[in-house]
Amino acid sequence: MTFQQIELTTENQLAYITINRPDVRNALNKETLDEMMQALETLAEDEEVGAVVFTGKGDKSFAAGADISQLTEKTAADALSAKGMQHVYDVIESYEKPTIAMINGYALGGGCELAMACDIRVASTKAKLGLPELNLSIIPGAGGTQRLARLVGKGKALEMILTGKIIDAQEAVQFGLVAEAVEPDELAAKVEEIAAKILAKGPLAVKLAKLSVHMGTETDMKTGLMLEKLSQAILFNSDDKNEGTRAFLEKRKADFQGK
Ligand code: COA
Repeated sequence: MTFQQIELTTENQLAYITINRPDVRNALNKETLDEMMQALETLAEDEEVGAVVFTGKGDKSFAAGADISQLTEKTAADALSAKGMQHVYDVIESYEKPTIAMINGYALGGGCELAMACDIRVASTKAKLGLPELNLSIIPGAGGTQRLARLVGKGKALEMILTGKIIDAQEAVQFGLVAEAVEPDELAAKVEEIAAKILAKGPLAVKLAKLSVHMGTETDMKTGLMLEKLSQAILFNSDDKNEGTRAFLEKRKADFQGK
């Protein structure tokens, strides 16, 4: 499959979706989002791929948000469309495989929203994050008002959104928006290290842990706890749980099959 707006590469069970529009700071136009969706569909079927990493081409930007040249043409009908950026990020958040945002530079607007839809965010110390949409007299409309508030709390989210404040990676770590910030030349290795830890786990447990956290935090505690209980019931009956527990007792590395 050939792409024009993104690059899709795979290495050691890790797929990389790299937004490839460095001249416009990896701004996200419709074509880029369409290609992202195609890549995700392909990767969902690929059993060799255990996790997906999103990043941006070059050393300046992860993604500088929606492509403003296309925004000028948008109408209310576009915002209401079931296939917009908000939908793409919903697909990413509920994606079966774990996702990591490798934030190599600016993650602004839709770029920050993309990162927030991923399970884990790791940033270069040069990264800058924010939701400056109000400068254009629009709001973060691809999950930003909801995910930022859930990640950093309502107070910090309102400060960032209403003022358009751009924060650096260190501050993003402090507020829980980013898991870790490392020197730019250590970013790729850090992402590989985190991914390797996830990939060493039973895939079924990874899938159900992700589902329990994402869905459980969007419902009341009792329902969330039931979701957790039912997920655990599935895992208690799985071959991988038998393998994982046996391997621990036999002091060897587990060989998980995802069953
Ligand atoms: N949409 C379309 N084009 C964009 C863009 C976006 N979101 N972000 C950057 N670009 C383009 C610029 O128009 C410029 O194009 P040009 O070379 O034809 O003039 C090019 O990318 C480089 O941008 P520039 O502003 O010169 O780079 P910079 O390194 O000085 O600043 C940013 C980088 C990301 C801070 C700045 O470009 C910016 O603020 N972008 C908009 C961010 C935003 O508001 N996002 C939310 C959109 S809803």
